[in-house]
Amino acid sequence: MSKSELPIGIFDSGIGGLTVARQIHKALPNEDLVYLGDTARVPYGTKSPSTVVRFSCEDTQFLIQQNVKAVVVACNTASAWALPILEKKYNLPIFGVILPGVRAALEKTRNQRIGVIGTGATIRSKAYSNGLLARCDSAKVFARACPLLVPLVEEGWTNRSVTREILEEYLAPLRRHRIDTLILGCTHYPLLKHAIRSVVGREIALVDSAESCARFVKERLEHLNLLAKSRRRTGTIQPFVTDEADRFSELARRFLGMPCEPAWKVDLAPV
Ligand code: DGL
Repeated sequence: MSKSELPIGIFDSGIGGLTVARQIHKALPNEDLVYLGDTARVPYGTKSPSTVVRFSCEDTQFLIQQNVKAVVVACNTASAWALPILEKKYNLPIFGVILPGVRAALEKTRNQRIGVIGTGATIRSKAYSNGLLARCDSAKVFARACPLLVPLVEEGWTNRSVTREILEEYLAPLRRHRIDTLILGCTHYPLLKHAIRSVVGREIALVDSAESCARFVKERLEHLNLLAKSRRRTGTIQPFVTDEADRFSELARRFLGMPCEPAWKVDLAPV
C-alpha cells in the first residue's frame, strides 16, 4: 500500500476533538481517519505543561503504531504545549490547531485587535498570542481562559440562558477592548458558535479552529503529496478511547455531527 493510502491520525484529550475530525472529514471526504480520545485522562486544560507533553507523546505514539501517515493534534491545549516537542521527537508530519487559527485570524482582522478564548492551560501557554505577534507585530491580543465552557458543552447546555450569561461575563472585557476577531481556541467551542455569535453580534469575526485546522491539513497533505487521491469510497472514522466506551457514541454523535463507529478501548504505553 502506498503511504498516501494510510489513514490520518487525530488525537484529543477526549471527545471534543471530534469537531476537528468532522471538519477534516468534510474537507477530505475520502480520507480514512483514526481518532484517539484520551477519555481516561481528560481534561488536559487544567493540567501542567509537563503532564500535557507526556500524555501527548503517548497519544502520538499510539497513533504511529496504528500506521498513520500524519498526526493531527486536535486538542488546543496539547497543540499549545506539546506540538514543537512532538515535531522534534517523531518522524512524520504533525499538524496542530494553533498556526491555522493564527493565520485565519490575521486574514480576517481589519483593526488587528484579536481576542482568544481557550482552556486555562492554552491561555497560560501564550501560544496563540506569540503566534499572532510573530506574524504581525502591530497586533493587539486579548486572551481569556474560559474554564466553565467545556463542562457546559459536554452537558449539552449550548442553548441555555445560564451559558449565555457565562459567555457574556467571559466576553465582556474582550468586547471592551474592541476586538474585531475572536479565536475559538478549544475543541468544544464550535458547538457554542451560535451562542457566542448571539453575544458578540455580527461585527466580530469568529475563527473556528477546527475549520481552519482542516483547511491547513488539506493544504499540507496536498503539498506533501500524501492525499489518498485514488480512493473512490467515503473515508472511514475509527475511534479509540482510553476509558470505557459506553458514553462515547451518544457524545460522539453531537461532536461529529453524524453517527460514528463504536469506539475501541485501549491502554496507552508510557513513553
Ligand atoms: N480538548 C481541549 C482543548 O481543546 C479541551 C478539553 C480539555 O481541557 O482537555 O483545549
